[in-house]
Amino acid sequence: MSDYLIDMFGLRGKTAVITGGGQGIGRMIAEGFVRAGARTIIASRKFDVCEQAAADLSSFGTCIPVQADLASTEGCLAFASHLRGAGEAVHVLVNNAGATWGASYAEYPAHAWNRCMELNVHAVFELTRALTPDLVAAATAEDPARVINIGSIDGMHVPIYENYAYAASKAALHHLTSVLAGRLAVDNITVNAVAPGPFESKMMRSTLEEHGADLVTRIPLGRIGRSDDMAGIALFLASRAGAYLTGALIPVDGGLVTTR
Ligand SMILES: NC(=O)c1ccc[n+]([C@@H]2O[C@H](COP(=O)([O-])OP(=O)(O)OC[C@H]3O[C@@H](n4cnc5c(N)ncnc54)[C@H](OP(=O)(O)O)[C@@H]3O)[C@@H](O)[C@H]2O)c1
Repeated sequence: MSDYLIDMFGLRGKTAVITGGGQGIGRMIAEGFVRAGARTIIASRKFDVCEQAAADLSSFGTCIPVQADLASTEGCLAFASHLRGAGEAVHVLVNNAGATWGASYAEYPAHAWNRCMELNVHAVFELTRALTPDLVAAATAEDPARVINIGSIDGMHVPIYENYAYAASKAALHHLTSVLAGRLAVDNITVNAVAPGPFESKMMRSTLEEHGADLVTRIPLGRIGRSDDMAGIALFLASRAGAYLTGALIPVDGGLVTTR
């Protein structure tokens, strides 16, 4: 690769933290970051899953698994203090861990609201705030620290399949992204959101099994997302190439919501 491309899109010398980085979309981003040279920390509740992903990615670079339950303020604070105790810098924070719940209007359970709002919105605020001193320490005006929130196209349109709390939580996350971008620009921290369309993951397994063929016919680019599609947008936002962007919401959906 040319020096120009390495300067533009490479992450050598940076440390990135990806919540939910052991599988699915977080794992796709982790692979892109490790291959681009970032020291990459992946965290979720299932340590064995993170450990396996880190081992798989170790042939490309450094990936460190951490066990963390981020669905509460205490969990977010404990994770932040673990990183600090381990002497880790944080140049990039990807708030990717998320939960969904699908059910009909009549049967939608109250507990789905707590689950989706806590992890998809509140935890993003708590973890970002807890890591703000670390992001500030890693940032310069020329090369800001980055927060990348993984939203969803379901927070942008009326979802095809019923998932009331999830859609509302993702719309809230998109708005929180703009609010935090406004607050943190003065600290040289950018905050952007990516809104994925359908990508293969545990969360999407049953939807794709049941409705995959129908979904693909609705996507103008004619396929579901691939690992590189997600790694590409995250690399852009984390690298020199994305340094002058904040408060943006970027749909990565093959045109599913952007053309309708
Ligand atoms: N796949 C898609 O098509 C799609 C589309 C739009 C948006 N998204 C968004 O992409 C993100 C990743 O989802 P995914 O599709 O990759 O689904 P996934 O495979 O189910 O991944 C969810 C991740 O979140 C972690 N997580 C869940 N609860 C957690 C907790 N309490 N503390 C820490 N980590 C927790 C999970 O790990 P543990 O279970 O080990 O904790 C897992 O790594 C989510 O925010 C989702 O809303 C996905």
